[in-house]
Amino acid sequence: MNIPKTALVTGGAGFIGSHVVDHLLSLGSEVIVYDNFSTGYQINLAGQAANPKLRIVRGDTLDLPSLETAMKGADTVFHFQANADVRGGIKQTRIDLEQNTISTWNVLDAMRTTDAKTLVFASSATVYGEPDIFPTPENIPLIQTSLYGASKAAGECMIQAYAEYFGLRTLCFRFVSWIGPRYSHGVVVDFLKKLRANPQELEILGDGNQQKSYLDVRDGIAGIFLALAKAESPKSIFNLGHDDFINVLEVARMVIEEAGLKDVSLRTTGGKRGWLGDSPTVHLDTERMKQIGWAPKIPIESGIRATVRHLIENPALFTRG
Ligand SMILES: NC(=O)c1ccc[n+]([C@@H]2O[C@H](COP(=O)([O-])OP(=O)(O)OC[C@H]3O[C@@H](n4cnc5c(N)ncnc54)[C@H](O)[C@@H]3O)[C@@H](O)[C@H]2O)c1
Repeated sequence: MNIPKTALVTGGAGFIGSHVVDHLLSLGSEVIVYDNFSTGYQINLAGQAANPKLRIVRGDTLDLPSLETAMKGADTVFHFQANADVRGGIKQTRIDLEQNTISTWNVLDAMRTTDAKTLVFASSATVYGEPDIFPTPENIPLIQTSLYGASKAAGECMIQAYAEYFGLRTLCFRFVSWIGPRYSHGVVVDFLKKLRANPQELEILGDGNQQKSYLDVRDGIAGIFLALAKAESPKSIFNLGHDDFINVLEVARMVIEEAGLKDVSLRTTGGKRGWLGDSPTVHLDTERMKQIGWAPKIPIESGIRATVRHLIENPALFTRG
């Protein structure tokens, strides 16, 4: 088992990063969270506040000297910081370059000058653009349809080059949309926010027939740590998704039901895509993960319903813009 002695988690106060932190602490690792709290929450780490193995550094991944200082002593880096808003790049065309690509370069260069030799990277199914093979395997050409996807693909490429030059072990995971406790952005939050503003009508971006997979964060974290223990290639790439998928109209119905609302009229904005760069179908082939013994256990529907209940119980997660 490849248990990090000391791990640095960028974005460790975020939705997924904080679950990585919990898991590392449960394994007995020392953990350094590196986060600027722009979209992360102190409350995500509240359960570990008294844990002497956790150190929280409030810092920006664009600040290389600060990142290098924080990384000293870490053997493994989980790079989970990003601009995780896949739509942001349409209006702010620098954001993915800075927050995703340059930040990833900073992480790699800090690894070059410290002792950290293993990198786990949160990549995305968006690197496939609009593929024409489903479920989509890892080894197809990556043709970009969004700046977010392009920034993640660029990050993966730099990771491979740094691995070659400096002998790093790297694992890149291409995620579908994740759901579960501490979820704070994405379609479920969007729907709940709209329903709070108007419980009679729900606007759905696109025609609602977009088909997507969703992965519960607990299944995803189990997959990441299994691959960390078992992956043989020094430069691994794994899809992390669900065998199943559902369409956006079904998600809307589940959110409405769990929110206890009735007679909500659904208004679709039309078109196959919800926004520029949205892929109408996201369904990844997870055979590589299955070969190392992983499979998702939590059905999409129960994951979405539990996420809605979690959000209703934790309204602070709605404060995100
Ligand atoms: N959530 C998903 O469904 C999903 C899907 C595919 C890929 N990903 C990727 O997984 C990772 C985690 O996503 P998430 O959903 O937990 O997002 P999140 O926004 O909840 O977490 C990101 C964290 O990074 C921190 N951060 C942002 N910019 C920073 C900066 N410049 N310096 C320091 N800290 C900074 C934020 O404060 C936050 O705590 C991201 O890389 C994201 O692109 C997420």
